[in-house]
Order: sequence, then C-alpha cells, then structure tokens
Amino acid sequence: MIKVAVLGYGTVGSGVVEVLQDNRELIAGRLGEDIEVKYILDLRDFPGDKNESLVVHDVKTIMDDPEVDIVCETMGGVGAAYEFTKSALTAGKSVCTSNKELVEKHGAELLKLASENGCNYQFEASVGGGIPIIRVINTSLAPERIDSIKGILNGTTNYILTKMADEGADYASVLKQAQDLGYAERNPEADVEGHDAGRKIAILASLMTGKDVAYDDIYIEGITAVEPVDFKFADRLGRRIKLIARADRNDDVAITAFVAPHMIPKDHPLGGVNDVFNAVLVTGNMLGDAMFYGKGAGKLATASAVVSDVIDLGRAKLAGISLPCVWSEDKAVLRAHDEKKESFFVRTASVDADKLASVIPGATKVADADGQTGYVVDDISEKELNGAIERSGVCVRKIRLA
Ligand code: HSE
Repeated sequence: MIKVAVLGYGTVGSGVVEVLQDNRELIAGRLGEDIEVKYILDLRDFPGDKNESLVVHDVKTIMDDPEVDIVCETMGGVGAAYEFTKSALTAGKSVCTSNKELVEKHGAELLKLASENGCNYQFEASVGGGIPIIRVINTSLAPERIDSIKGILNGTTNYILTKMADEGADYASVLKQAQDLGYAERNPEADVEGHDAGRKIAILASLMTGKDVAYDDIYIEGITAVEPVDFKFADRLGRRIKLIARADRNDDVAITAFVAPHMIPKDHPLGGVNDVFNAVLVTGNMLGDAMFYGKGAGKLATASAVVSDVIDLGRAKLAGISLPCVWSEDKAVLRAHDEKKESFFVRTASVDADKLASVIPGATKVADADGQTGYVVDDISEKELNGAIERSGVCVRKIRLA
C-alpha cells in the first residue's frame, strides 16, 4: 500500500483526491499496488465532504508519519509550499506538484534535495496542465538534442486571441467576455502580460538544456498591445496571431528564450490551436517535430497530470529507483532575444509609410488596412529593427513572424 498526503484542498487538490479515489482500482491494477489518500492538509474544515475525516491542519502530522510515502503539493505560492516541500523531501517523502512558480524558482534545488534524500520530485502538471510534456522530455525524448520548443502555454490569452481573430473584436471587450465566462481571472495580469507562459517556458528551457533558466532572465511581451487591425493584416498574410513561448538552441552553448505574440502561418502545427487549448511543439535533432496538444488548465485535467506523477513516484518507490530529470543549478547561457535574426511584420500609418520604408531597405509592402500600411522585414534582429524604427521617427507596431 502506498500512502499519499495532499497539501491544499482547493481546485487542483480536490481534483487529485477525486482522481485517486474514483480511479483507485484502475490505478492499482496498473501500478500493482493500492494507493490510498491518508491526509489532506488545509486550513479549512470541510463539513459534509466525504473526505472530511482525512483533513488535518498541522503539517507535522504528515511529515512525522512514516507511513506517508508521497506528498502532492497543490497549495500554490512559494512560501509555505516551498518549506513543506523541503520538509517532505528531507524526510525522504517523494513530492509532486502543479505549482509552476515554485518549480520555476526552486526546481533545480528541490531535485537535488530529493536526490540527496533518496526520493523524487515531479512536476508534470506545472506546464500545460493535463498535457504530458515534462515526462516526455525526460524520458521519450531522452535520445534527442532538443533544438527548439515552441508553445501555446496559456489558455486565457489563446482564448482572447482566438476571439479577437474570429469576431474582429478589440482586446478590452474580449477580455471582459472571457472574465464573464470564467476563462480569465478578475486580475488577468499574469496571463495577459505573458508571465504565466514565461514561467512555463523557463521550466521547459531548463529541461531542454539540463541547466537553470530563470524566468527573470527571459524577455516577456504579452498580448495587451495587439489590435484588431493586426488580425486583418494577419489574415491577408494567411496567418494567425498567437502568444508563443519559445526556447531555441543557437549553438552548443547558448539558447534564446522569450515570450511574445507571433504571426504564424494558418497551416503551422500551432496555427490550429484555438480557444483555451494549449500545445507544445518540440523539435529534436533526430526525431524532427513532435507536438503535444490538450487542456492546459482545469481541475481534472491538471489533477490527472499530478496523479500521473503519483503513480510514477509509487513505481519508483517500489523499485527503489530515481526518476530521470536532468536540471542542474548551473545557469544556462542565454543569448538576448533581440540579437537573433528573424522576420517581422511592421505597420505604420499609411501617410508615414514612405518614411518607414526608406530606413528599412529590405521591407516588402504587403497590404493596406484601416489607414495603416503593413510590411514584412526578413533576416533582421529586433535590435537592428528597433534602431531603424527610431531613425524613421514614425510610430510603428511590430509582431514577429514564425
Ligand atoms: N491561467 C493559466 C492559463 C492556467 O490561462 O492557461 C494555469 O497555468
């Protein structure tokens, strides 16, 4: 019998308990061992809940109980969650989590602590909700040198961009609609400014390099400046606008990692990923492209990913093995996002178009829309492009092409 404690009985935590209990027989059949939820840690009581008797308020009850093999941290935040995770790992209890903020900030350190204490730390649910991607990188893609990861890693922004494209609506009205439907938070900043996607690509880039990529070192641009006219130009270019989180290998030493809106071809694998769905496109040097698509959020999708970790942790315990995950505390070498040569869409007021074209000689005019003229500029770094735009003295909006 494997005994589990769940820290936090909120949306994800209650989902984890539900998956473990409702699929108990099926999971036991696959693992060859029964898994039981022994404790649920929460500050609150849950009168009338069928698991009311499992609720404890003191984390010591869990840490001091040698019967607890696995701890699921579904509390969120980097305060108590960090302390409790360290206590569990130090006590030799394996931990799994959905907490991307904690994983991004302390992943390498917690993996090391787990290894020093003969247990494991897993975080499948921290990126892409229910989409299997962490385990895939750590196991199925182990023979590959991963050259690039491109992801639509945030459902809220993907929903907003999909609606703006399909309905021609502006950002503010679509955001309000998304909030009313419960697809966007009342305070949407972490999503719309790209921070959530930034944390997720920092985790994926760390696994891609085996070294630490910090969210604080990643350039992040959200979707708040994208306007309806940009979708008109995108349509004329046969493209969709998506918030793409990217990690690209430059050479044997450095990678570039950033988050920004991109215009991508409609027939690009990520071009058809709409509404709240997420997807991750991984390019390996032997395999080529492989894409993983699904629900990036939601109670049971995220809980299912946490429970996939519980099963792996149970299997590792029974076999007495460490689970594969290479993520050292050494810093990965990051090249600035604006030094890499890329292609861009740029637009300016049509009255200023000649001025802009005169300072960017390679600019190819693509269309006019709503008093704006759009150009495509190839093979230029953002730094060079910004310099040219500044020299032109005109107001320009730009979006990367991918
Ligand atoms: N707020 C996130 C999203 C889900 O909109 O995708 C949790 O990471």
